[in-house]
Amino acid sequence: MREAIEKFATDLNPSPAELTKFISKLSYCPVNIDNNADYLNLRKAIQDLEISLNLKNQNVFYLSTPPSLYSPIIKNLNDVGLGGKASSDANIWPKIVVEKPFGRDLQTCKELDNQLHDVFNENQIYRIDHYLGKETVQNIMVLRFANAIFEPLWNYQHINNIQITNAETLGVEGRGVYYEEAGAMRDMVQNHMFQLLGMVAMEAPGSLDSEAIRDEKAKVLKALRPLDLSNLEQCAISGQYGQGYISGKSVVGYREESGVDQNSQTETFVALKLYIDNWRWANVPFYVRSGKRLGKGITEIAIEFNRVPHRIFNDENYFGFNDSNLTANTLVIQIQPDEGISLKLMVKQPGTTTHLKALNMDFKYGQAFGTRTPSAYERLILDCLLGDSTLFSRSDFVNLSWAFLDPVINSWHTNTQKNFPNYDAGSWGPESSNRLLANQGHSWRKL
Ligand code: BG6
Repeated sequence: MREAIEKFATDLNPSPAELTKFISKLSYCPVNIDNNADYLNLRKAIQDLEISLNLKNQNVFYLSTPPSLYSPIIKNLNDVGLGGKASSDANIWPKIVVEKPFGRDLQTCKELDNQLHDVFNENQIYRIDHYLGKETVQNIMVLRFANAIFEPLWNYQHINNIQITNAETLGVEGRGVYYEEAGAMRDMVQNHMFQLLGMVAMEAPGSLDSEAIRDEKAKVLKALRPLDLSNLEQCAISGQYGQGYISGKSVVGYREESGVDQNSQTETFVALKLYIDNWRWANVPFYVRSGKRLGKGITEIAIEFNRVPHRIFNDENYFGFNDSNLTANTLVIQIQPDEGISLKLMVKQPGTTTHLKALNMDFKYGQAFGTRTPSAYERLILDCLLGDSTLFSRSDFVNLSWAFLDPVINSWHTNTQKNFPNYDAGSWGPESSNRLLANQGHSWRKL
């Protein structure tokens, strides 16, 4: 832990004395997940800690094992009396944090929920989605609801399309066994991407109350138009990377990664075209894509506004803008790595001729604030300790996301004609993902 803190928490820069004091409070108790006797040892270790730290009943159990192990852990914790409902302070302590994916489909999600509810009260359960802990994600609410200028434009009348991109240059980084079970849909889309969708599309909540916010996000998922399974390639694309180059270095294809089946049908890329059937978003396409081993590591939400209704400038003025997508005002919320917000405007290029140019008005967190940004997990673990669940997923949101995506995952599962691998590492995903937008006269932003 000392090494890890020194390596990864450089911005905190603790003094040697602080670090030693902190480290002295850590202890480790190995547990074989299936062995009930080990949980008795764990209970004893917790009791000893409570005495030495002078604490009583303030446990947080954090499940970040492969999801298939959650069930025996919950059962065994309960069997040795560490469950939530048995606690003397059952309204608040202990707490249990559950890493995503929460289940692997709607049915297993409900089973996990039922099992958790047998042992813990709902307000002791924290379904973690680390995207909600990111500063830039929390700022979406502030941008939308603490500024009056966006709301009048934030609807089908002014917005042409919205693109939510999560692109990673990383591969599966030694997590092949886990990833084979998950795939991009379960690993990223069902949770992180849908949370971003909820934030950008929801109505203004009545207050900052955690239930009010989570109600509004759930309504977004309820209004999603079901995907047309008979015509899936028009609305949902999957891909898997083959060998290629990242930053000039050759990297292996997904099927060559350790822990991965040589004939794996697991997707490492997903692109979706979604519609939210409500008054605000009637017929505005939301394009969502997430993929590993893409050309650049970047996560952003781009809100592309309508073109001007009548062009008074002619083609010569628009010199170089042969693709009309390039001239649309676009508000980009960059989640990472270069956290910030930018607004693309058309301006006149200085000179004696009238040539237009697209320019970005930029706000960068790094430049605007000198202070350190807490990492997503730092914020979420603190909120969990304080009992604030606003930035955690609520059960109905998780259920709704599975209910929406299950049919697509099942359809992909039964269809073995995927021609995987279908994109090179270092590219921008399969060609079919471009067609998804081209059919609508749109194209992915060049990142
Ligand atoms: C995790 C996924 O939840 O999020 C990983 O399991 C992914 O596969 C990671 O790489 C991305 O997180 P971030 O914060 O780097 O965008």
